[in-house]
Amino acid sequence: MQSLLRKNIEDLEGYTPGEQPKQADLIKLNTNENPYPPSPRVSAAVRKELTSALRLYPDPVALELRKRAAVLYNVRPENVMAGNGSDELLSILMRCYVGEGDCVSYPVPTYSLYETLIAIQGGQSLTVPYPDNFAIPAPLYSQSSKVTILCNPNAPSGSLEPVGEIARLARSVAGLLIVDEAYIDFADADETAIALVKRFPNLVVLRTFSKAFSLAGMRVGLAFGSEDIVRNMLKVKDSYNLCRLSLVAAVAALEDVEWMQRNVGRIQRTRRTLIRGLRKLGFEVQPSQANFVMAKLGGDSIRWLHDGLRDRGILVRFFDTPDLQNMMRVTVGRPQEIRALLTETEALLRGRGLIRKAS
Ligand SMILES: Cc1ncc(COP(=O)(O)O)c(C=O)c1O
Repeated sequence: MQSLLRKNIEDLEGYTPGEQPKQADLIKLNTNENPYPPSPRVSAAVRKELTSALRLYPDPVALELRKRAAVLYNVRPENVMAGNGSDELLSILMRCYVGEGDCVSYPVPTYSLYETLIAIQGGQSLTVPYPDNFAIPAPLYSQSSKVTILCNPNAPSGSLEPVGEIARLARSVAGLLIVDEAYIDFADADETAIALVKRFPNLVVLRTFSKAFSLAGMRVGLAFGSEDIVRNMLKVKDSYNLCRLSLVAAVAALEDVEWMQRNVGRIQRTRRTLIRGLRKLGFEVQPSQANFVMAKLGGDSIRWLHDGLRDRGILVRFFDTPDLQNMMRVTVGRPQEIRALLTETEALLRGRGLIRKAS
């Protein structure tokens, strides 16, 4: 059977999502979920939908959700496409625009799923390294790839580009520009590029309900783009890509944006505490505009720190790849979770004689 497999799939490593442990009492700071629950309106809407209506298929084109999103983000429903998480929307875009041998450019380090999806299509990833300050690398503006992807704020750096820079990039690139705004609600300033889709027919902006809206388990994402882009994405999606429960949950979440914003405010405050605390312990920490921070400790590998925290019931994400050497990414949890993380990190550093300053 192996010989029947496409060569690019045979060679593919596959994307490895962060660990989702069964154990409930762990402090889970490894996959950038929201520590706060979704709006009570979401559970009410889901409960209401749990009727015999479940025997019927859901709306294949998610019209109510798209209409709600269109009002909130000031576009037309024809400019909105709903997906089973923004991961599905990324996959649909790759299937629409990337064929065998087509080039896709993006700066690295970034969300590693892009590389996997491009490889599935048999496309070519043209990566451009970010400079130390994580500004958009200059060569990205002048390349001629069919598709360019920018994650804004970027994961895992947490760095944010202002919307003016996104407009400049959309104007400069030769092909389609995908801006992945999975974390943009956590930014201190509103820098969304959604309004730009009216001006740039080559721009698609992706949003998710998994982060700021606390709905990672529901799997809902939105794409904003020209009518033409949305029409073509609709051709490629699965017939019923969102289930009835996800659809009503997403609509209810959009009806209670204030709930989401309150949680974002808490996360922004805890983010400041986390950054301060890690710096005090000697980490180099990027100023993040997302719900996670990237921290680095000079010197030898800190895998022991990741493992030590795990032994103490705290999960963080550790990266050690050519792009991301010896890096720890910590999701901003509740204040008490972040206090526990800082306390245990300090204890582990002390155990190794690595504390620079007494706190
Ligand atoms: C940058 C980025 N984009 C997209 C996603 C996927 O989001 P969703 O849960 O909507 O598929 C993630 C998930 O962690 C992410 O980090």
